[in-house]
Amino acid sequence: MDSATAPAATTRAADAAVLDKLYHGGDYNPEQWADVPGIFEQDLRLMKLARLSAATVGVFSWASLEPEEGRYTFDWLDRVIDGLSRNGQRIVLATPSGAKPNWLALKYEEVRRVDAQGRREPQQGRHNFCWTSPVYRQKVRAINAKLAERYGRHEALLMWHLSNEYGNGGGGTAYCYCPLCFGAFREWLRQRYGTVEKMNAAFWSKFWSHTYASFHEVTHIDPSVHGLDLAWKRFMTDRVISMMADEAAPLREVSPGVPITTNFMGTFPPFDYWRLVESLDVASWDAYPSWHGDAGDLGPAVTTAFTHDIYRSFKGGKPWVLMESTPSQTNWQRVSRLKRPGMHRLASLQAVAHGADGVMYFQFRQSRGSSEKFHGAVVAHSGHENTRVFRDVAQVGADLEKLAPLAGATTSADVAILYDWQNNWGINQAQLVRNADKDYLATCVAHYRTFWNRGIPVDVIDSLRDFSRYKLLVAPMLYMIRPGVAERLEAFVAGGGTLLTTYLSGLVDEEDLAFLGGFPGPASMRKVLGIWVEETDALDERQRISVLPASPANPLRLPDVTRARHFCDIVHLEGAEALAAYGDDFYAGSPAVTVNKHGRGRAYYVASRNDDAFLEAMTKALVTELKIERALPVSTPGGAAGGAGEALPAGVTVQKRVRGDRVFWFAMNFNAEAKLLALASEGYRDALADREVKETIELPPFGVVVLSR
Ligand code: GAL
Repeated sequence: MDSATAPAATTRAADAAVLDKLYHGGDYNPEQWADVPGIFEQDLRLMKLARLSAATVGVFSWASLEPEEGRYTFDWLDRVIDGLSRNGQRIVLATPSGAKPNWLALKYEEVRRVDAQGRREPQQGRHNFCWTSPVYRQKVRAINAKLAERYGRHEALLMWHLSNEYGNGGGGTAYCYCPLCFGAFREWLRQRYGTVEKMNAAFWSKFWSHTYASFHEVTHIDPSVHGLDLAWKRFMTDRVISMMADEAAPLREVSPGVPITTNFMGTFPPFDYWRLVESLDVASWDAYPSWHGDAGDLGPAVTTAFTHDIYRSFKGGKPWVLMESTPSQTNWQRVSRLKRPGMHRLASLQAVAHGADGVMYFQFRQSRGSSEKFHGAVVAHSGHENTRVFRDVAQVGADLEKLAPLAGATTSADVAILYDWQNNWGINQAQLVRNADKDYLATCVAHYRTFWNRGIPVDVIDSLRDFSRYKLLVAPMLYMIRPGVAERLEAFVAGGGTLLTTYLSGLVDEEDLAFLGGFPGPASMRKVLGIWVEETDALDERQRISVLPASPANPLRLPDVTRARHFCDIVHLEGAEALAAYGDDFYAGSPAVTVNKHGRGRAYYVASRNDDAFLEAMTKALVTELKIERALPVSTPGGAAGGAGEALPAGVTVQKRVRGDRVFWFAMNFNAEAKLLALASEGYRDALADREVKETIELPPFGVVVLSR
């Protein structure tokens, strides 16, 4: 069960180092080239030239490792691993469960996933095995055990890489709806609810006559039964956790000291990554931002930074790995633009700035056939090193070698933003007063962006994580309040913390049942905010409601007028003070922004979806009031040196990593033009160019400067 009342344990940052240096590598699929003489030797030469220190092998190799049931062929992989090892590359060894061989899929129908309409996957594509099939579990354990026996003690083994992108795209669904999965689901429901009556109560199933007479009647997922849908997502998360446990068992037995990871996909909604990550030693993800599109680069830069910070926060600050990124273009996005000069280095070091200890690619050598033949690679079809992409990759390799001392370095943040997967499930399945643009993720990113604009480090955590140590906790649209969370929010504020939450918060409990007695519920949340939300107005596309400072004193220095869109709560004060009020409609004059003093802290409520200028002002006020610092003290045109309330030049941010007495600062420019950054003091070195820097640094277009002192 996931309804923990206590915060989940986070890994202490003190024992953060998992890798001994910053690794540089990529997916390497030499089995695709096994018939081409001499290519492996060329690859080894090119890997050295590209300064690659790791290679991920075996990701989709099952058919080459076990061509017939029970007949294993490891000789080719022996040669690959030994060759790479002699060549200086450490091995990230993947288990092959991401794609099943034909013999397995055709002989054992149960391993093939069934979709919500009951159609069984015909054996095509990948990431589409059944989450429950005992045959699949057994076959995966068997081949994993063979891999562990053979390579688990190899000195070149750096990490285990479970499967690949669990759940990605498998026949259109991450979930499997087969009878085996439903059998396990019914058992899971029995464990969670005990009796069918309790389950019915949790599902509010008398609505539309959906009462279940027994657990046996749960045979499909009716999306109108929200509690059921939520239970299914929790169950499927548990399925993946048990799959990972089965995969990992033989690996841990043979190589207990070798870290285990699996490559996640950003904020992939189907599984609660906060729970999955507990089974891993190292978090990693595959980042493919769409750079240089019509909307420019700031959006992708900020969203990527936000996601990187989730990965940094997953293990309590412990370094993570950028497991895949493209060295040039993808071939699956609507438009895959070439990275402009500088962008590859910037994007790679952006990950390092946010805590990555590895920068890896998909893939090393471009495939000749099938769906990824036009996906970018370190070595393109041209087959040699005389390409712009290859030079960019080698440059990143050189950079990572120079930055080796920062392996294991961490970041400490005074600000946390809550991004909670289960809250996202709840919001997405709810039929709300406005169903267009619910935008939970985008709203969290919009708040995050105001800190990024100031170069202020932010942890991104979920509501079950410990948030007691932050000065400021921003919890936008915290719709679902799981057990214990309201009490912990109250204790956080009472103890001196500052909480900011918004419209659409405190509406339902963890079963997605509305709180009774007035929003935001539960009672301790309402007490800490000192308000009662009586109604929520929904605005149509072009409608706006003005939000005006409540008094000329305007302590937050909010804009004179903000135009709220989409959602406007109608709020009554119950001890809180109004800092802004609506200017229009029948609720003109009622509070739009409130603050409540509670114990030693304060709780702010932003009742409407306001524009970026409003969020900027709010963050500026809170950062100044709470004396929150930016990662690197710089002078900004509008403010005193080091004052973190002022934003940096647009599109420029700074991040920092610390290990012992060594500090590295990353100054990054996501603009196509150069930008200047005035440091607040002297004495920094440019760690990549290895020279002293003056007080003002020039950041080239799509440029990054790494400073140390
Ligand atoms: C990832 C996947 C890789 C490759 C890559 C292409 O999602 O894990 O195997 O397909 O995308 O961008």
